[in-house]
Amino acid sequence: MDYLRIQGPTKLSGTVTISGAKNAALPLITLTLLAHNKVTLTNTPEVADIKTLLKLLENLGATSTLNNHVLELDTSTVNHTMANYDIVKTMRASILVLGPLLARFGHCEVSLPGGCAIGQRPIDLHLKALEQMGAEITIHAGYVNAVAPKGLQGAHIIFDKITVTGTANIVMAAALAHGKTVLVNCAKEPEVVQLCEILRDSGVDITGIGSSELTIIGTGGKTLEMVDFEIIPDRIEAGTYLCAGAITNSTITLEKVRPDHLDAVTAKLEQMGCTIDIDGTNMTIHPAAELKHVELITQEYPAFPTDMQAQFLALATLAKGTSIIEERLFENRFMHVSELQRLGADIRLNGHTATVIGESPLFGADVMATDLRASSALVLAAMAAEGTTNVHRIYHLDRGYENLEQKLRALGAKIERLSE
Ligand code: EPZ
Repeated sequence: MDYLRIQGPTKLSGTVTISGAKNAALPLITLTLLAHNKVTLTNTPEVADIKTLLKLLENLGATSTLNNHVLELDTSTVNHTMANYDIVKTMRASILVLGPLLARFGHCEVSLPGGCAIGQRPIDLHLKALEQMGAEITIHAGYVNAVAPKGLQGAHIIFDKITVTGTANIVMAAALAHGKTVLVNCAKEPEVVQLCEILRDSGVDITGIGSSELTIIGTGGKTLEMVDFEIIPDRIEAGTYLCAGAITNSTITLEKVRPDHLDAVTAKLEQMGCTIDIDGTNMTIHPAAELKHVELITQEYPAFPTDMQAQFLALATLAKGTSIIEERLFENRFMHVSELQRLGADIRLNGHTATVIGESPLFGADVMATDLRASSALVLAAMAAEGTTNVHRIYHLDRGYENLEQKLRALGAKIERLSE
């Protein structure tokens, strides 16, 4: 197993190119299940989760090539409808095949994804919405068996909770359903917006894009002639590099970013005393003269993202004063706290709230990555800590950060990948 060895404290400088968004690419790849043509996706991030999903699609009968961030995908040959446990258990986002497979074939069997390190993560809202669209769903032997013998029917669906992959799944199902679907209380994340835009550009009548209410007129089972497109930049990768500048007290520039997708993150960095310059698709962070404490609550977009909570927690350990960080989306997304404590951080956890006593001197240690974003927080803290930190179990990082150590090394970090 690989691990990262990081020597701190470190100073960074230069420019880093941000990759395409993993969480946009995942639903967009499953979206091609609705197409009858070959589709080309550019700016595809070459990370483990994308490769896992492509393997799943290949098991279903699709063909794909991914070279130099250009993904060519042909799902016209798909002739299986079972997404099996072996792949789904390694990546929850595999559930994104449920809506498209059911819409296209009228039946499918998808393994239940199960829980994960950050919480329970049920899919009840996906299933309830599909049932409202006429699907008959049974759970047997760990699989969701879904059938819609007469095809899916348009429906008026109110999500009890805002769900990102739930919205994506049902939007895709509605695109091929019979009649009109109205979805209320939808996720408004940029990744969901891009999915809707590609559907619109591919001829689906969809309105309300970017709002919490979407109206979709389905094609009645007809597959789509899908357009080629470029995947949006990864706002969470970008936010993580902004934190890298802030935590190492360095000025760095990010290129190929959508600054408007990062408003909530930028606002918090500015409250902490950093300065951020925006020039088109470039963002430059200048460090704070003195890093100030912060109060933040994770919520759905456009509010502060849960996927940036761990990185800000790492940053808050160095700030002057006491920071309060509340996690509202996932019940168990504080696994990084005990690892940051191993580096010397002073953090008190009370339910969903972490109180971070700032200005803790951090010292290198062996730490263990527990999930994707927690891992990046450990890397950030390690770059600020005195001495050597070994971050173990970095397969989590490989799932979602493209070439992390190469990008950080090019900025001047002392970071190397080693084998246990
Ligand atoms: C997406 O997960 C992202 N994953 C996550 O990114 C991200 O943390 C999350 O949205 C929140 O922004 C992808 O896009 C692939 P949800 P998702 O459904 O869609 C509850 C990362 O690090 N809920 O919006 O699975 C759920 O338990 C990851 O890249 C139900 O109760 O999240 C949670 O409390 C990790 N029932 C809340 O809703 C359901 O049926 C939001 O979850 C569905 C969700």
